[in-house]
Amino acid sequence: MKNPFHLKALPLSVPFCDREKEMSDLIRYAGNFTNIVLSSPRRYGKTSLIKRVHDNLAKHGTIPIYIDYFGISSIDEFSARFAGAIYSVVYKEKSLFEKAAKVFTSLRPILRPDPETGMAFTVEVAKSKPGGQLLEETLKGFGEFLKSGKISYNVAFDEFQEITELKESKFIEGTLRSYTQDHQNVSYFFVGSRRRILTDMFNDKKRPFYKSAINYVLPALPAEDTAKYLVGLFAENGKNCPVPVATRIHALAEGYPYYIQKLSYFIFEASKGSVTEASLHDGLQQMLLEETPLFEIMLQALRPRQIALLYAIAKEATKMPFAAAYLNRHRLGSLGGVQAAIKKLTEMDYLEKTPDGWKVVDPIFTHWLRQKEAME
Ligand SMILES: Nc1ncnc2c1ncn2[C@@H]1O[C@H](COP(=O)(O)OP(=O)(O)OP(=O)(O)O)[C@@H](O)[C@H]1O
Ligand SMILES: [Mg+2]
Repeated sequence: MKNPFHLKALPLSVPFCDREKEMSDLIRYAGNFTNIVLSSPRRYGKTSLIKRVHDNLAKHGTIPIYIDYFGISSIDEFSARFAGAIYSVVYKEKSLFEKAAKVFTSLRPILRPDPETGMAFTVEVAKSKPGGQLLEETLKGFGEFLKSGKISYNVAFDEFQEITELKESKFIEGTLRSYTQDHQNVSYFFVGSRRRILTDMFNDKKRPFYKSAINYVLPALPAEDTAKYLVGLFAENGKNCPVPVATRIHALAEGYPYYIQKLSYFIFEASKGSVTEASLHDGLQQMLLEETPLFEIMLQALRPRQIALLYAIAKEATKMPFAAAYLNRHRLGSLGGVQAAIKKLTEMDYLEKTPDGWKVVDPIFTHWLRQKEAME
């Protein structure tokens, strides 16, 4: 019996849970050449969804360009990744490839094998240019590229908020905005998980991208569809998972696709013929153990006050983190310090304010923090 659940990115060939509405919404937006800001907490399935939307668009004649800006460290890298993504998608069509080579004169493509797509291109900056000249040249070149032919395009900028980490971020925002509004045959998806930072780019009057795209919030997976999906996958692989147990998996993971997959993976390993409450418990402990190094790293990067606040809110979600009683109960120190910590942790998307009050965004991190504090 093979474990049907995935710890890594979901290949296009394996079953996808729900997301029919989101798929058709995004396909429609691309068809209307409407720009979208797609946001959600981390590991909600944004990238997996975009890949499937792109697969569908490609089958219907739109050329999908996917660019991941995770960990970007310079403005030239912005252009290099941009051109690299274009080369990677057009290389099979000689005329388009030649067109790309003609417009991106300062960027030299290098071919390498890619586990997902067969071949991919990285790009080297052939001629170094001062300041933002390379970016302007690249975007202008892309404009030329778009002009020729009647093909339609969709460009997805994944982890788009990462550009705000660059010292030239203002210039990039301004330049990108001015070049991305000129063409009728392309739509842009701005995708990211640090929600505050991403949405501020589009909702702040003073920023270039103000109101230039529709906000689209990816929700958690719904309980009923998830339970059906899980029961089906367990059954196909020889295990009986009762609906109430599958529903509990969804609830523990709070609808997070990543944790639904991972928790189910460990539960599958921990169970014999039937999935029981005991295997659910074992699976959860196994997953918490597995996540520990990552959670430790997340904590290590924080200041003591930020850590204290995370523990406090994991233990006691609150509408009033600044109330004297709350500060005292959790020994959080001064009001100013807590205000600064909340701001930082919100930017990192570790904390969020919901109608029920402030909570830790990640449900398994919450679980882990509670368990760790109880043991200390
Ligand atoms: N609809 C779905 N059905 C089943 N599993 C899913 C679904 N969407 C996502 N997943 C699972 O969740 C994991 C995380 O998805 P993905 O990497 O697409 O999320 P993300 O929002 O892009 O995350 P990050 O913020 O880390 O970039 C995937 O590895 C996949 O196994
Ligand atoms: Mg992603």
